[in-house]
Amino acid sequence: MIFLGSDHAGFELKESIKDHLEKKGLKYLDLGTDSLKSVDYPDYALKVAEKVIGEKDENSFGILVCGTGIGMEIAANKVNGIRAALVHDEYTAEVAKEHNNANILTLGGRTTTPTEASRYIDKFMSSKYEEGRHENRISKISGIEKLKY
Ligand code: RB5
Repeated sequence: MIFLGSDHAGFELKESIKDHLEKKGLKYLDLGTDSLKSVDYPDYALKVAEKVIGEKDENSFGILVCGTGIGMEIAANKVNGIRAALVHDEYTAEVAKEHNNANILTLGGRTTTPTEASRYIDKFMSSKYEEGRHENRISKISGIEKLKY
């Protein structure tokens, strides 16, 4: 399952991503927003992040779109277990999976065209987490989540 969310600035790109996923026969769940009316991106980051954390299928992931992808990335990464990655080309989409085992992609609706977004999503989905040396680094990220200040 692919969980989708956006704010108003990412709404149109999210709609184009839905078209792309439908053409590929992939299942998605759209958690909003559903119009160009102004909303707050952290609300949608949290909805998608909670779905991704609650999902056991390791092929599931989330896609969050705001104006730049930055706010969605920051907000989603506050949820324990989320590794949200802002991607802006095919290379970052590939290594977000291979090295970081990202479970959410974030995209900028004002910086990324529908064609580019489709290419980045396809690249992410066709890439594989490499494990090995990256496992230790990812468990260190989990360790940071447990620190109390
Ligand atoms: C909304 O104007 C914009 O601030 C938001 O979509 C996002 O880009 C924040 O990071």
